[in-house]
Amino acid sequence: MKLLHPTVHDVTAEDLFDLYDAPGPHLRAGFVVSVDGAVAVEGTSGPLGSAADKAAFRALRTGCDAVVVGAGTVRAEDYGPVQHRPAAAAWRAAHGRAAETPIVVVSRTGQLPPDARLLAGPVLLAVPEGVDVDLGVEVIRTTEPRSLVAALHARGLTRLLCEGGPSLLTSLLAAGVVDELCLTTSPTAVGHGPHLLGPAPRTDLSLLSLVHDDPGVLLSRWAVVRSAGD
Ligand SMILES: NC(=O)c1ccc[n+]([C@@H]2O[C@H](COP(=O)([O-])OP(=O)(O)OC[C@H]3O[C@@H](n4cnc5c(N)ncnc54)[C@H](OP(=O)(O)O)[C@@H]3O)[C@@H](O)[C@H]2O)c1
Repeated sequence: MKLLHPTVHDVTAEDLFDLYDAPGPHLRAGFVVSVDGAVAVEGTSGPLGSAADKAAFRALRTGCDAVVVGAGTVRAEDYGPVQHRPAAAAWRAAHGRAAETPIVVVSRTGQLPPDARLLAGPVLLAVPEGVDVDLGVEVIRTTEPRSLVAALHARGLTRLLCEGGPSLLTSLLAAGVVDELCLTTSPTAVGHGPHLLGPAPRTDLSLLSLVHDDPGVLLSRWAVVRSAGD
């Protein structure tokens, strides 16, 4: 892989741990997209993936305190617990990050399959007030983006990584709580299926870093540009 911005040099998957590190608190969204903005092919993101995308995905998880994900993505992608490889675990220990990375599932209904794989690891479930949950996990009684972020900060989880899906990302972006978009652009156009964003306010972005990997995979990090008063 070659870093093209802000400087130019070769990078390894492990170099991405530092390249993708950022001081907290922050909320970043990490997605793999086609050139035309699709996020799934036949219902999952797997066909858009690549070795470089896996490296970016792992680098984002390596730096974060918690993964935040919509229940639709948990169901579509059969989410399991976050497992750090040895190099990532060593990086986290050296940089004061906890050994375990909880997954925060956001849901209006609280409906997760009782045998969902991710329930084998630490999970927090964010649901609106009044929704019954009987999954034996910690429950956060809000899905309003600003309250949810505050509730996670209060638990010491300040470096937040949203892994989707597009419905959740659109809500978070519209609420003004997203600081960064970390996108893998795959060299394909899909032409159908869910796209990165639903209707959302226009958001201006500033390029933080860009990595290229053959055959035409681009790993980009974009800062959300806040206007005065945001
Ligand atoms: N390419 C990528 O990087 C990537 C990443 C993630 C997902 N995907 C793809 O995206 C597709 C799923 O899209 P999606 O938009 O349905 O995913 P999603 O946002 O994960 O799921 C939607 C569901 O999540 C919950 N949810 C989302 N936003 C919420 C909010 N603001 N408040 C409360 N609950 C909220 C609701 O769950 P309940 O139904 O339980 O109420 C809602 O039905 C799948 O095909 C998946 O493969 C791709």
